[in-house]
Amino acid sequence: MNALMKTYAARRARLIEQMQAKGGGIAIIPTAPEVMRNRDADYPYRHDSYFYYLSGFTEPEAVIVLVAGKNNQSILFCRDKNLEREIWDGYRYGPEAAREAFGFDAAFPIDALHAEMPKLMADAPALFFALGSDAKLDAQVQQWLNAVRMQSRAGVTAPAAMHDVHVLLDEMRLIKDAEEIAVMKRAAAISVEAHRRAMKICRPGLREYHLEAELLHEFRRQGSQFPAYGSIVATGANACVLHYRASDAEIRDGDLVLIDAGCELDGYASDITRTFPANGRFSGPQKALYEIVLASQAAAIAETAPGKRFTDGHDAAVRVLAQGMLDTGLLDRKKVGTLDEVIAQGAYRQFYMHRTGHWLGMDVHDVGEYREASADSGERPWRKLQPGMVLTVEPGIYVRPAEGVPEQFWNIGIRIEDDALVTATGCDIITSDAPKTVADIEALMRQ
Ligand code: GLY
Ligand code: MN
Ligand code: MN
Repeated sequence: MNALMKTYAARRARLIEQMQAKGGGIAIIPTAPEVMRNRDADYPYRHDSYFYYLSGFTEPEAVIVLVAGKNNQSILFCRDKNLEREIWDGYRYGPEAAREAFGFDAAFPIDALHAEMPKLMADAPALFFALGSDAKLDAQVQQWLNAVRMQSRAGVTAPAAMHDVHVLLDEMRLIKDAEEIAVMKRAAAISVEAHRRAMKICRPGLREYHLEAELLHEFRRQGSQFPAYGSIVATGANACVLHYRASDAEIRDGDLVLIDAGCELDGYASDITRTFPANGRFSGPQKALYEIVLASQAAAIAETAPGKRFTDGHDAAVRVLAQGMLDTGLLDRKKVGTLDEVIAQGAYRQFYMHRTGHWLGMDVHDVGEYREASADSGERPWRKLQPGMVLTVEPGIYVRPAEGVPEQFWNIGIRIEDDALVTATGCDIITSDAPKTVADIEALMRQ
């Protein structure tokens, strides 16, 4: 077993420890199904994040079973060797080689799952399973449970409790370990390069998909397997559509281009947004709004540190954005009142309608509770940041044409997004090499 495989084995051991603390039982963690795209062509395969977190194993048709009992055991079910299929689809480990390489105690062919599970579940006090994630597996688990219950006259007991195994894993995944941080930094560095490349190549007359192609080229050139999410390349008014995808709009002189794109590397996401002028020079109104968003991001980053609450960054960003909206006349003081009133009544939401960040990890909107667990029934406070958490900081301003909104700002959409790793003393912006001051962007685009 190499060092990385030891990390996966240690994660399984930590999960088993937590299962033991709840009285023991058996956990079932499947990988993702293969999905057909059309007729016999399937979507590129992407493993399940929880499954990968515990195994590093990327083949489809696999299930991890963990036994927390008198003897703890970690078991892998995976595709059997099949020379005929391997000629068409490529190498598969098969149970024996997979057990060895990935450090499991035992491994079986996936076809044996149905026969083995009732045996493994017999006398287990609880089942640790994420019901509702996969209807087919849900139905199988019910069958296995019933098969165990049928043996009651033989003195066998079926699991009497069910725990959502994702709840335990979400907490683990929220705090990134050294291996995860190393991969996330590499993913971030690739995405930084991709953004720089798109900025450098951009000129009026190109289309959005030309910039998307540059992003994809850089991702793949550096070994990233996929984009972490559909790349947004939005020019002009398209930047005000929050979930716009790169399409075929022409990039016009005088417009801004908003790119929200990040690669996935070895199962980990990065998530960067930059907004820059198509022709390399910000106009006056573009610059005015850009500086507000940039200042709001700096305010949010200053609140991204251990002990701060998840929403402190958002609140700080909103304050700067709202003040900027009043100063520029985007919001009319006569109508909306003071800064505090704008914040209390949410008038800023006309131009800033999303949150300032989210957890980032294997999934771009990563798992993990945003509020503290608390026993009483009152509103749970937002969670405090801890070293090892990774989150995005992504304020923006989006101005749709509307009566009373100064026309010079119409159709400007700006977002600036970086990825922050919470450290012992503050945070490390792992995407900071993508230029974001007006001067740095204009200098890069002049090259
Ligand atoms: N790209 C997705 C997000 O920024 O949340
Ligand atoms: Mn993003
Ligand atoms: Mn994001």
